[in-house]
Amino acid sequence: MAEKIKWGVIGCGGIAARRTIPEFKKMCTHGELVAVMDINPETAAKVAAQFEIPHYCATEQELLQHDISAVYIATPQNVHCAQVVRAAEAGKHILCEKPMAITLVEVKIMEKAIRKNGVKFMLGFCMRNNVYNKKAREIVHSGVLGQIIMGRAELTGWYPLIVGAWRQDISISHGGALIDMGTHCLDLLEWIMNAKITEVGGFQDLMTHKYPTPIEDASTIVLRFSNGAHGIVDNYFNLPDATAQNILELHGTRGSIIGQGTIGQDSTGKMFSIIQKKEVGYDANQIRNIEVPKEEYVFEGIGLYGQMLDIFSSCILEDKESPITLEDGRHSVAVVNAIYKAVKEKKIVKVKD
Ligand SMILES: NC(=O)c1ccc[n+]([C@@H]2O[C@H](COP(=O)([O-])OP(=O)(O)OC[C@H]3O[C@@H](n4cnc5c(N)ncnc54)[C@H](O)[C@@H]3O)[C@@H](O)[C@H]2O)c1
Repeated sequence: MAEKIKWGVIGCGGIAARRTIPEFKKMCTHGELVAVMDINPETAAKVAAQFEIPHYCATEQELLQHDISAVYIATPQNVHCAQVVRAAEAGKHILCEKPMAITLVEVKIMEKAIRKNGVKFMLGFCMRNNVYNKKAREIVHSGVLGQIIMGRAELTGWYPLIVGAWRQDISISHGGALIDMGTHCLDLLEWIMNAKITEVGGFQDLMTHKYPTPIEDASTIVLRFSNGAHGIVDNYFNLPDATAQNILELHGTRGSIIGQGTIGQDSTGKMFSIIQKKEVGYDANQIRNIEVPKEEYVFEGIGLYGQMLDIFSSCILEDKESPITLEDGRHSVAVVNAIYKAVKEKKIVKVKD
């Protein structure tokens, strides 16, 4: 049997137990799960039993002593920095959930520990693994859309008051719909366009829910990219799940791509493109969509989270850099913080990594 990377998990609550561990068990050919840890020992014990994982514990110290070479960190973001540093110091490669950290100062501390200890790092922007998002990137890169004019990414759902939920406590989450869901959208647009966000502005409000601390349940953000394109990222905790379209749009001078439901935890969705094969002159009648065929794409999805651990396992085995780097993580933190600043100060802010 080919060599496999031995993994430990730090934080086995929501995303780890619902998506990452089950998908990992089902599809990871380059890794195996050896131990899980959660600050709540019952959570760790339950996950270990459910997924037949040999070891569980309630302290990082114990987890890091196991014969593992990589850890998946899926805890609330206010502890990512300290946990990444401890894992790096123990010589473990690290796959950390998004957002990487809360501040750029934390990112610097994490980078230093990772570089000093020579371990690999990958950030959990798993939505890049959606087969439709990959196709959108391929189409944009082929140039058939012409000059890229605008990209939009939406991720939305219903998230009411839940007593004790860390996402609703700004001292832990550092924000609401943007930091939770918008981080994926911002990254996807940059990755698909191969361009960086340079300027940001927008509106955020706590419109609907009675959260105990002021995190936004509505976030509507405008962006400028390094390729000159504009962007919109919109995220709401106060729209019904049933109406969430989770739209991806890319518009260029020669055509558009429209995805529906391709942004989210599921590996599926729908997508079509409308592309003009040749330049069309000015038409004063403004007739739309004449003789421009719509191409629909139908693909089989593969678990986004399982793929993430499998990809990182291969990077470790083959001693390659991960596809989602420290630089991506640092930039994402810089963009998110620039957006919160822009909203607070009611102005357009330049992103400084
Ligand atoms: N990539 C994605 O699509 C995606 C989706 C959901 C969540 N996330 C990210 O994953 C992280 C966890 O989110 P969640 O929804 O799973 O949260 P959660 O609250 O459901 O689970 C977190 C778990 O971490 C445990 N925990 C808390 N502090 C800990 C500590 N210091 N040490 C060890 N365990 C600790 C909790 O007991 C809990 O079981 C967040 O950063 C979130 O943004 C990413």
